[in-house]
Parts: sequence; C-alpha cells; structure tokens
Amino acid sequence: MERLVAVIAGVMQVLIASAASYSDHHLLSRIAFGSCANQSAPQPIWDAINKFDPQVFIWLGDNIYGDIRRPFKILGKERTIGPWKNVPRFVPSSHSQMLSRYNIAKNIPGYSRLRANAKVIGTWDDHDYGLNDAGKEFPAKTTNQRLLLDFLDEPQDSPRRKQAGVYASYTFGPPGKQVKIILLDTRYHRDPLSSDGTILGASQWSWLGKELRGPPSTITIIGSSVQVISNLSAATGPLFYMESWGRFPRERDRLFKLIIDSKRDGVFFISGDVHFGEITRYDCAAGYPLYDITSSGLTQAVEKVLPSPLYFIVRFLAWFTPSTMRVMSRNCRYRSCTYGEPNFGAIEIDWDAFPVNLKIQVRGINGLPVTGVDISLSELQAWNSTIKAGQDRRHCSLEVMLPWIVRYRLAILVYSVLAFLLLALMGLICAVILVCRVCLRKCKID
Ligand SMILES: *[C@@H]1O[C@H](CO)[C@@H](O)[C@H](O)[C@H]1NC(C)=O
Ligand SMILES: *[C@@H]1O[C@H](CO)[C@@H](O)[C@H](O)[C@H]1NC(C)=O
Ligand SMILES: *[C@@H]1O[C@H](CO)[C@@H](O)[C@H](O)[C@H]1NC(C)=O
Repeated sequence: MERLVAVIAGVMQVLIASAASYSDHHLLSRIAFGSCANQSAPQPIWDAINKFDPQVFIWLGDNIYGDIRRPFKILGKERTIGPWKNVPRFVPSSHSQMLSRYNIAKNIPGYSRLRANAKVIGTWDDHDYGLNDAGKEFPAKTTNQRLLLDFLDEPQDSPRRKQAGVYASYTFGPPGKQVKIILLDTRYHRDPLSSDGTILGASQWSWLGKELRGPPSTITIIGSSVQVISNLSAATGPLFYMESWGRFPRERDRLFKLIIDSKRDGVFFISGDVHFGEITRYDCAAGYPLYDITSSGLTQAVEKVLPSPLYFIVRFLAWFTPSTMRVMSRNCRYRSCTYGEPNFGAIEIDWDAFPVNLKIQVRGINGLPVTGVDISLSELQAWNSTIKAGQDRRHCSLEVMLPWIVRYRLAILVYSVLAFLLLALMGLICAVILVCRVCLRKCKID
C-alpha cells in the first residue's frame, strides 16, 4: 500500500514538474532582474530598467514589503531590541493588507510600462512570503502563494497554483540557442535558520534534479532569493548574520553536487535580499566557476540606513569586511565592488559572438553599470574550463577558512570603537566629578 502511494506521488510529481515549465521560441538576449522593492516608496529605477528594454524581467523576492516592521525601541511598552525585548520586530499583516500592498506595487506606472513590454516572472523572499526570515513554519504561506501568483499574472489553470511552493522553470529561445531560467522557492519548505536542515525540501529537490538533468540549454540561470555563493555571515558574525545558502552548508554542497552530476554547462546564479549589489564566483565547487550576481534592491539600499553625509561609513565598512568570493575590478563604482544604492541586474547575451558572450552588470538608478563581468560561455564549460585545481585559487577558499584576525576584523573594529567610546565616556564622567569636587572644596575654603 505504502509503495503504491509512493508510486502515485512520484507520478503526480512528474506530471506537476513537467507541466510547471514554460517555453517560448523567440531568441532571448536581454534579461533584467531585481529584488527588494518597497511599494510605498518612490520607485524611479523603473525608468532605467525600461530604457534597458529587457525581453524578460525576473523578480527575485521582497517584491513587496508585506509584513509590518516595528521601529527599534529599547524603552517603552513595546521593546523590540535588547535582552528586555518583549515584542517581535516583524509581524505578519492581514490578508487584505497584503492584497492592497500588491495592488499598489502592480500599479506603479514605471512597472506597468515594463509589464506591457516584457515578460515578467519571479519568485519570492521573506517579506512578500509574509514575514521577515520566515521558513516552512509560516502559516499564511498557501494564501500568500496565491497572492504572489496573481501579482505575476500566473494563469488560473497553471499547475504552479496547485504545487506546494512557487518554484518554476522557463525555457526561452530556438533550439541550439536556449536559455533556461529556474526559479527556486527558498521559503516554503525551509527549515529553521541554523538547523543546517533543508532549504528546498524533498519535492523541490526532485523537481530541480529533473530540471537540471533534463534537455540541455546553452545557458541556465538559477534564480535564488538569497545569495548562493557569498557567505557574508562568516565575516559579519558575531555582530549580525545574514540569510544565505552558506548558512545551510550541507544543502549548498548538495546543490553544487547536483550541478556537477547533471553535467550541465553554462549555469550561473542570480540573487537578491541583501540590499546591495555584488558579483561573486566560486571556482572550486563545480568543474567551472560558479558565478552569483546579486542585485538588491530596487528601492531598499544599505546606504540609506545612515544620513547621506555618513554614506562613506557604509562604503568603508563594505570595503573593510573581507570576502574571498567577490569579483573585484577597477571598473566598479566603489572600491569595495559592492553597491549600496538602488540597483538592478542586466544580462546581455551576444549570440553572434563565438563562443557566445555574456555581459552581466549591476546598474544604478541612472542605468550606468556599477559592477559587472564579461563571461565567455567557454569559461562556463567543464570540459574546456581553464580553471583547473591549483591554477587559479583566488576564489576557492571559503570565508570560514580565513585567518581569524582577517575573518573577524569587522567585529574587532566595531567592538574596539565601542570600548574606546565607553572608556572615553567613563574618563569624561571621572573628569567632571573631579572638577566638581575641586570646585566644592574651593567654595568651602572661600
Ligand atoms: C516603505 O516606504 C515608506 C514610505 O517612504 C516608509 O514609511 C516605510 O517605512 C518603508 N518600508 C520599508 C520596509 O522600508
Ligand atoms: C557560512 O558562515 C556561517 C557563519 O559563520 C558558518 O556557520 C557556515 O558554516 C558558513 N558556510 C560555509 C559554506 O562556509
Ligand atoms: C575553449 O576555451 C577557450 C578559452 O577559454 C576559447 O578560446 C575556445 O574558443 C573554447 N573552445 C570552444 C570550442 O568553445
């Protein structure tokens, strides 16, 4: 009986997996992507995206901010930080609030213009899933799945509306010049952070296996809401930790192994989530370098956490935080080769070049590139890769393998500054007390 159920479940999965993919035979050479868009904030970046004139636009999550964020408060009735914290900083909003936020987002004029001219596809991250950093435990996931799919104009009879999670795959282009886009769902099945459990869950893993082992495509883009290659947490801890595949090391290894085993060439990742743009590569995971191009966000940006005269502090900290995977170049807008202002991702494929050439850039609000890479497709072929073990090990060692003084230098700097400020404050208080005592004594004598 159990066997039969398993067989039926397997057949169902195949049916769903094969049906949840989409194909279009037009040659695809311009793709844009982005993430983290606050529906209530101005979104001038659509002008630059429309000017780029993508044929396909990919949402990588936080397409709206659906949850409610309380301000940081140390004191008062609702305390959101400190050991005395008594309420969570993020809470889910009601269904009608989610719906009205999606309506605002969908009707932003620049975005409406994009929808009229490009095919828009996408996945979600935590804030449009419904709650900051949430995973499989989040109860509103099925109703919110419907809201996302409505936002993306998913047909009513689409199998994507019946599966558990919003993962999907798309194939564009004529035979021999195909681009496959695989969008992952990193929320619906995700185990708690720091459980080192699963991100994708069993059904999505078996679907992904079939997608990667299936018919070949010249280029395969895997979209993940959270970063796949960069493991910033290894360098920002214990100050703070970011979400990423790096937080689930076993799951990440499984992903790399699947890519190797599938013998699929031309794979790279795109991601969002972190509120800055960055390009990373990992040379020793597969038979060829695995790139991860992160664009975040369309409105949300790390520099905005400080007033504009203090942006240089954010830029300095971005430069100071070590990274072993980041692709550095002289053409970056800033020395760190990260970009903490609003941005989007732009992919251009030159099909006439031999080998086919990919130009991938993160672009700012004026449409100009702030960091980018030119990749010849021959670089993404295991059989022809020039990156063989031992030759170029620049992007081969994990962040956690850095010497501790380098790895933790951000935390060391921050704690040192805090300690210095504390000492200075104590010194100041002592000085004031001393001066007062001298004055008092003088008064008495007089
Ligand atoms: C979105 O923008 C509005 C208006 O500027 C602001 O009040 C709100 O705090 C922003 N939300 C987030 C999550 O940044
Ligand atoms: C990423 O960093 C976290 C935090 O330091 C660590 O626990 C994890 O093992 C790292 N993952 C990888 C793949 O290095
Ligand atoms: C193999 O790679 C080299 C350089 O990376 C490139 O010049 C060459 O054209 C590639 N061969 C094929 C058949 O793609």
